[in-house]
Amino acid sequence: MLFPSYRGRRTRKSEGIRKMVRETAVLPADLVYPLFVVEGLEKKREIKSMPGQYHHGLRSLLEEVKAVAACGIKGVMLFGIPKKKNEVGEEAYNPQGVVQQAVRAIKKKIPEMCVITDVCLCEYTSHGHCGILKDQQVDNDVTIEVLAQVAATHAAAGADLVAPSDMMDGRVAAIRGHLDNEGHKDCGILSYAVKYASAFYGPFREAVGSAPSFGDRRGYQMDPANVREALREVEEDINEGADIVMVKPALPYLDVIKEVRGICDYPLAAYNVSGEYAMLEAAAAKGVLERERAIVETLECIKRAGADIILTYHAREYAEKLWQA
Ligand code: PBG
Repeated sequence: MLFPSYRGRRTRKSEGIRKMVRETAVLPADLVYPLFVVEGLEKKREIKSMPGQYHHGLRSLLEEVKAVAACGIKGVMLFGIPKKKNEVGEEAYNPQGVVQQAVRAIKKKIPEMCVITDVCLCEYTSHGHCGILKDQQVDNDVTIEVLAQVAATHAAAGADLVAPSDMMDGRVAAIRGHLDNEGHKDCGILSYAVKYASAFYGPFREAVGSAPSFGDRRGYQMDPANVREALREVEEDINEGADIVMVKPALPYLDVIKEVRGICDYPLAAYNVSGEYAMLEAAAAKGVLERERAIVETLECIKRAGADIILTYHAREYAEKLWQA
């Protein structure tokens, strides 16, 4: 049908009719809130590179999780910042480590919250790479054994899902196998299946002190120019036992989300990363865009592209203030 029989504006003329024909709605339950917990921290502290986000100690973490549960958010993603880092990232699999303690505390106080843990070594290694080094390179096969141990300590603490973000080959199978052997068959895997070597992780790396001390992550994270490779990565992780797959970052990769959606009937997550957050906040602080509308639009577009679940630093604010039934 063509104009003048067709007039698109008829279904845009009031908020009521726009809502009626709206194709996508982001619910608080679609969102996962990433949180940073610092070993030994007493009081929460704002993260410079991510205004409005905090380093938490155990006490403020629990308050935060309670508050987000009250506004309908069902999942949090935990990142730990240990006191001690070393060459091999040992603190990552300490059963008394900062994340393991945080998981236990949350599951005790707010058991209904789905607790997801980041499984990676970069926050725990002195060199900031995501695994164990051999001749200045991350050794894949040694690293995946260590990651499996890390995941098992998270599962033992009560994590509902472990989320490997390292991009080593074979890590999902190694983790699944080890979790099953250790009796954690009900702990699921949210795999960062498609993780690009992105400049948009800058504010996060500052927040957790994980910028690599030499080299970069291009030897294990994906080339931003590739999309067919993303489909292979997804297939591989599902074959290895992933329960949910993720694309990361989100905004510059909406086409990737859409392509993955097209080949994959597993739940799909997308990570609206720290650089996307910081970019929006910086533009809003300069007064060059309307902050709240930009947040809603961002989340809507990521969902429209095909994500079921969105990890976003705006989760709490969206669920508390910006969401409308
Ligand atoms: C690695 C990890 C990173 C992020 C999540 N997990 C950083 C990296 O790969 O360098 C980035 C998250 C963000 O930028 O918001 N453990």
